[in-house]
Amino acid sequence: MAGRVIAIDGPAASGKSSVSRGVAAALDWLFVSSGHFYRTVAWGTVRDGVSSDDLAAWISLRQLTLLNDNKDQGTTRNISLLLDGENTTPHLSEPEVAATVSLIATVPAVRDFINARLRALAEHHDLVMEGRDIGSVVFPETPWKFYLDASPEVRARRRSSEGAIDSVSERDRLDSTRATAPLIIPNGSIVIDTTHLDLQQVIATVLSYLDPLTVTPTRSVQ
Ligand code: DC
Repeated sequence: MAGRVIAIDGPAASGKSSVSRGVAAALDWLFVSSGHFYRTVAWGTVRDGVSSDDLAAWISLRQLTLLNDNKDQGTTRNISLLLDGENTTPHLSEPEVAATVSLIATVPAVRDFINARLRALAEHHDLVMEGRDIGSVVFPETPWKFYLDASPEVRARRRSSEGAIDSVSERDRLDSTRATAPLIIPNGSIVIDTTHLDLQQVIATVLSYLDPLTVTPTRSVQ
């Protein structure tokens, strides 16, 4: 791990993605959604009609290409994912993907495939990476770990205001109870309850913990 990594974990719709984008923009670090990797693989299994018995063999044949440094909404350094040469970005919110991704994420061969690529990113970039196991499994050695949470009601409301129709509580149940790399509060992480905070307040809270660790934001958060 040559670059620095800020790990931001938490359940579905806890605000991880928006907060991580905002923190990455403030620091001019690369934003990475590890969920996009899992959604990309889930989309590929739907595309190819892969059964769970064939998953390990199928994933060993996949080509996952990362395109760096799109400036997302003009502010956040971001990546796009190509699976076998196809840009998966337009597919990540499809209902079939939301319906399969938590099951796909229980498979150790899938997690190993993705974790190797997430760790490789840290060889060349400073990262703000969000997910379910970033501080516990992918980068347990990073000193910058945050765990975001919010009440189930607020999370369900946030999800539906984004137009998503997947069941947050069912995904939380699957993500928290699986045998491999379940969603947990990683050792040493700072827990932030975002139930009564707006986005800018959460971003400011995360950044406030970074100053003593000598990470200096390159621009102020609006
Ligand atoms: O963050 P998201 O909603 O895009 O994640 C989609 C799913 O991917 C989530 O329900 C579980 C899985 N996931 C995971 O198992 N580990 C991660 N680090 C990130 C996501």
